[in-house]
Formats: sequence, C-alpha cells, structure tokens
Amino acid sequence: MAPLSVLYTKIDNRPPEIIKSQGNYLETSDGRKIFDASCGAAVACLGHNDPRVKEAIVAQLDQIAYIYSPFFTVPAAEEIATFLTESTGGAMKKVFIVSSGTEAIEASLKMARQYFTELSEPQWQRTRFIARRQSYHGNTLGSLAAGGHKARRAIFEPIIAQNVSHVSPCYPYRDKKQGESNEEYVARLAEELEEEFQRVGPDTVCAFIAETMSGTTLGCVPAVPGYLKAMKEVCDRHGALLVLDEVMSGMGRTGTLHAWEQEDVVPDLQTVAKGLGAGYAPIGALLVGTRVAEALAKGTGSFTHSQTYQGHPIACATACAVQKIIRDDNLLENVREQGAYLEQLLKERLGGHKNVGDIRGRGLFWALEFVKDKTTKEPFPVGEGIAQKVHLTGLQKEHCVSVIPGVGVADGKNGDIVQIAPAYNVSREDVERIVEGVEGVINAVFP
Ligand SMILES: Cc1ncc(COP(=O)(O)O)c(C=O)c1O
Repeated sequence: MAPLSVLYTKIDNRPPEIIKSQGNYLETSDGRKIFDASCGAAVACLGHNDPRVKEAIVAQLDQIAYIYSPFFTVPAAEEIATFLTESTGGAMKKVFIVSSGTEAIEASLKMARQYFTELSEPQWQRTRFIARRQSYHGNTLGSLAAGGHKARRAIFEPIIAQNVSHVSPCYPYRDKKQGESNEEYVARLAEELEEEFQRVGPDTVCAFIAETMSGTTLGCVPAVPGYLKAMKEVCDRHGALLVLDEVMSGMGRTGTLHAWEQEDVVPDLQTVAKGLGAGYAPIGALLVGTRVAEALAKGTGSFTHSQTYQGHPIACATACAVQKIIRDDNLLENVREQGAYLEQLLKERLGGHKNVGDIRGRGLFWALEFVKDKTTKEPFPVGEGIAQKVHLTGLQKEHCVSVIPGVGVADGKNGDIVQIAPAYNVSREDVERIVEGVEGVINAVFP
C-alpha cells in the first residue's frame, strides 16, 4: 500500500473512506451505509448529492469560476448578499463573503476593532474582547484567542493574543443554582459581564462575542430566555458591540434562519457558515449591522481586510441554490416539526439512561451530555474518551450512524457530549432511525 501522505486528525489513522453519498447516507469503501445524523459537522443540511445544487454549480462554472473581488463583482455574490441582508429584515446592511466560519470570525474581530478606529479618538483605545468559557469560534490564532475551550487553546496559549478575557457561558445544566429562577440566573450572568467590563476598563472593550446557541464545546445549549438581551444591554451601556457567532447554529439549524430571531436580540455583527452552503462549497459570511456599516461608510469607506477567495463565485452560486431550496421546500418548518419529534423521542428513549445527564437543543440541533453519576453530574475523566467512543461505535457496521463528539463541556477539559444535527429535510422515519441508532450505540458503550 502507498504511504499515507494525508495528515489525518489522528495522524496515521486513516478514517473510513467514503466513496459515495446520497441523501442521508454515506457509503464507505468497505460496504457500510452510514446514516449521517450529524451532517458532517452540522454542515450538509440538505443531505448529500442534491441535483439542484449541482446544477447551480455547473451553471456558475459555465459563466465564471473565479474573479478577484476587489476588482470585480458577479451576480451570484450580489444575490446571496442581498438574500442575507433581506433575511434579517434589514438589520444587517452589508455582507462579507469568505470561505469558512473561522474566516468569518477573524473578519468580525477586525471589523469590530476597525469600527472604533472610525470613530473619534477616545474610541481608538478599544482593543479588547470579552468572550465565554467553553466556547468555540475557530482555530486560527485570532479565532482561537476568542474561543474559551481550554484544551483547544492549551499548547498555543503562549502565542495567541492576550486581549480576550472570558466569562461564564449560559449553561443551566451545571451552572444554574438550585432554586434560582431564570431571571435570577440571567441577572447573575449580566452582573458577571458587567464586572468584567469594569475589571478590564469599559472603554477598552470592542465587543462581547458569543455563540447564539452553543456548539461543539458546550453542546447545543439554548440560551436561557432573556440571556442574550441582557448581555446586549451590558454591551450597549458601555458602547461595545455584540458579535453573535452563528457559524454552527445559524442558517436554519435551530428552526429559524437566524438563531437570534428567537432571542429578542439583534447583533451588531453576525457570522454564519456551515448551513449557508450546506457543504457543497466552502463558504462563510460576516453580516454587518447598521451602526457598523454606517460608521465605515462615513469614515474610511473600506474594510481593512481582504482575502484572495472572498466572494468566490462558485461558493456564492452554491449558497444561492441552497438557500432557495431551504425556502422553496419549506425546510425551516420541517426543522421545527422534526426537531420537536427528535426531542420527544430522545427524551422518551434516553432520558432515563443512567449515563445520559442532559438532553438539550432546539430545532435539529441536539446534544446528549454523558455523566458518570446522574445525581452529582460528575463527568467522565477525559482520558476515558467517552464521546469519541460513542462516535466510533456509531460508525461500526452494527449501528451505522454518525454523530459529532465533543469534550470539555463541564470545565474545558472533562465532560463528554455527542451532537445530533441531521439534514433539514429528514422525515419522521429518519428521526426514528436516528434515535434507534443512537440508543443502540449508547447501550453498547455503556452496557
Ligand atoms: C460556533 C463556531 N464558530 C466558528 C467555527 C469555525 O468554523 P470553520 O470550522 O468553518 O472554520 C465553528 C466550527 O465548528 C463553530 O462551530
């Protein structure tokens, strides 16, 4: 066999090879048909091999494959940007298209900083960001600095920016006190954010950044009602921006196109990615709210940031086709309907399991948190690799169901989850297949 040249995630451990994909299924070279209950990493939201998307990609290739966006524009870029701003009811005024979630986050950090340099001199001293522990915003040095996941940051700590500090996530399963109401919990978190602003100097903070609904490093935790609004109020009080990271939770995953629509809050900057192109092309975007867009337009008039592949025509045409399908096939309604069924079945079938501590989510974005002891909520030690075990067992031929593993949810190091994030067009039968598969896997891992 030829040497393994790909740098795999586990360096010399070649993962199963996929030779074909169709709908919800991934076919491996050794004959397994795996139900993709995770859309990869919550990406392939239309399922695989949709002919309408392929047609749109070919049509774009027939017109123009690449332009350099500082020099030229293309209809597909105009169309997807307009779609996105209109989808926010005009709250977002401008769209900057990139190739991944990480790049969208990098752009958001730079945009937030630049916004203040567009204002009068005292604002120029704003150089800091406040983010949350157990958060994930990407893996480049800037986005990693924003993220609050200890294990992912650990070895890079000495080389990442030190201008980000972290407050508690909104994580009721572990952090809400016994007898504390939602209002009291939210007030406590708002107070903590206020104290952090005071600690670092309120006029030094560019933005508070949070995932609207937490992803892999906390596991599909919907914000407690009123939480994001309260965080925005703290930001507003100090003139800082609110950046909502919807790379994973946005573009329909939680049942509305933008997850913030369910939170009574509008961000100043927003990032989206995964569901935007559904995996048919790499694409992410930064959405820029009125206040920031106007300051830039009145100030220097240009964003001090660019990348060779920004606004890539094929990616834009792909996203246009994907978003049309989500709209025309009424998929957001299906996300809400099948999401409710998924919740019901997960809770019925796994709620009583001795090692399933929490089942949480919204839309078609659900997580199971595993614990050693349900009463104390003691997590498994990270060394046991529970989440990874569940993931790998799922891929075995007896189960053939793919879920996303995550670790570190309890304290940045320990605490295992798996996420279930199927395609937006799943049927009731698909949801039943997923829950049956996941239940079988869990019973095999925790006999
Ligand atoms: C919330 C969030 N932000 C940012 C990212 C980074 O996106 P990407 O992996 O596309 O660079 C991710 C990826 O999982 C994410 O979940």
